[in-house]
Amino acid sequence: MIGVFDSGVGGLTVLKALMRELPAEQFVYLGDTARLPYGTKSPATVARYALQAAEALSACGIKCLVVACNTASAVSLPAVRAHLAPVPVIGVIEPGAEAACAASPSGRIAVIATEGTVRGGAYQQAILQRRAQAEVRALPAPLFVALAEEGLTDGPIAEAIAHHYLDALFTPAGATPAADTLVLGCTHFPMLAGAIRATVGPEVRIVDSAETTARHVRVTLAQAGLACLGGQGGLRLLATDAPERFARIGARFLERPIRTDEVELIDL
Ligand code: DGL
Repeated sequence: MIGVFDSGVGGLTVLKALMRELPAEQFVYLGDTARLPYGTKSPATVARYALQAAEALSACGIKCLVVACNTASAVSLPAVRAHLAPVPVIGVIEPGAEAACAASPSGRIAVIATEGTVRGGAYQQAILQRRAQAEVRALPAPLFVALAEEGLTDGPIAEAIAHHYLDALFTPAGATPAADTLVLGCTHFPMLAGAIRATVGPEVRIVDSAETTARHVRVTLAQAGLACLGGQGGLRLLATDAPERFARIGARFLERPIRTDEVELIDL
């Protein structure tokens, strides 16, 4: 079984890519809906929550953990890895940085994420490690989280907020050339890809880490001899609060219906 963890329903965008890439695997997904958002909390608090979530998934007998939350990946990956070793732990920042470096012709890369992810500089570091000449600009875009949860993913409100955040990054000002690549560094942001695309125009490469993370997980499992070679995949859903809301909003993120009685309520 593969464990997948996020602060709420956002990581279902990563789970969707994982289930596509690894259709024979069993997944257990934990959304820490009682304590969302992580993006505005201190690194110490997020790291403590992430360790508790990792512990709960470990008790389910997982062979690999995917930290599908950018904020938790940014601040807690080394601690979670040390805690779960030898179980492999894969975050979403490194795969996102790799995808951005591969996509960007000029190395001018913009990142939008939560406040916590931007503050820690994890994307900036991961991109510069792979491409030392890159020019990285990272900005928090917290309202996108609320828009995605409200289902306001396109239309005038979403586009107005997209302009509010993105015009500064993609309108060349004076001698600063605009970025050619935009990393959606938060689990919720792929839900707004339409409004973001309408705002930045057709030329900008838009990258999210879901597909690259799913490929990393496949390769990691194969290299460790842990891949499931046949059989039918499965999914168990856990939430720390409000299963009905998780099912209702999560269905949009997972792009399939979720029944409330599919969502098990747990305490961490
Ligand atoms: N899952 C979080 C992330 O990817 C976004 C929501 C939150 O702030 O908890 O950073």
